[in-house]
Amino acid sequence: MVVLRRDTYDEMCRSAADLIAEEIRRKPKAVLGLATGSSPLGVYRHLIEMYREGKVDFSCVRTVNLDEYCGLPKDHPESYARFMRENFFGQINIDPQNTFIPNGTAEDPDAECARYDHLIGWLGGIDLQLLGIGFNGHIGFNEPSDRFIEETHRVRLTQSTLIANARFFPGGVPPEYAITVGMKTILGAKSVLLIAGEEKYRIVKRAFTGEITPRVPASILQTHSHATVIYVGEEEL
Ligand code: GLP
Repeated sequence: MVVLRRDTYDEMCRSAADLIAEEIRRKPKAVLGLATGSSPLGVYRHLIEMYREGKVDFSCVRTVNLDEYCGLPKDHPESYARFMRENFFGQINIDPQNTFIPNGTAEDPDAECARYDHLIGWLGGIDLQLLGIGFNGHIGFNEPSDRFIEETHRVRLTQSTLIANARFFPGGVPPEYAITVGMKTILGAKSVLLIAGEEKYRIVKRAFTGEITPRVPASILQTHSHATVIYVGEEEL
């Protein structure tokens, strides 16, 4: 694992955006695994800027998002589909037909999970997976548990995740369930890039210098041969 420390959020985002842009230049039809949350926002901003400056071209890129809330239609202000459109896809030259996100309103969530895994296989797997990390060590919505779940699955969000994400639902509560890709998809990515702001220092240290355990789902990235972690902090891990 390559661990890079940065002094500020913006420096972290710039480094992550540079790595993603390099991947696209190397492979214009790259399949990117993308994440939501506040952490990747700056990465998307830098990529949009690079696109506007003619430094990166998304016309052949395919994207697969990690997760979506169950029950939120894709136009709901807090759906991840809308988040991606507003914060990234709508501002670059990607073909919307090449962007994939689990359908949170599928009538049969299990069938939707199977469809999503099949789709990722059909795309040939993920070239570069961007990840944030939850305060409890979750990646995507793979919550702490007594085992690592391999497939895309429907998950009941933990109390700590509901509390952490409540800020995005003013006056309301986040949905209790979500669909998330599983560990097979994340670990199957040819390279993985996890970013973590200053507030995540403790969990980053635990995940990447501690025991590999499903109680801290991100810790499994220690086993990935091409994993890069970029974090903001004053101290080395
Ligand atoms: C959400 C997402 C994760 C994300 C995490 C951290 O719950 N499902 O993919 O990494 O929370 O979010 P933030 O970057 O806003 O702290």
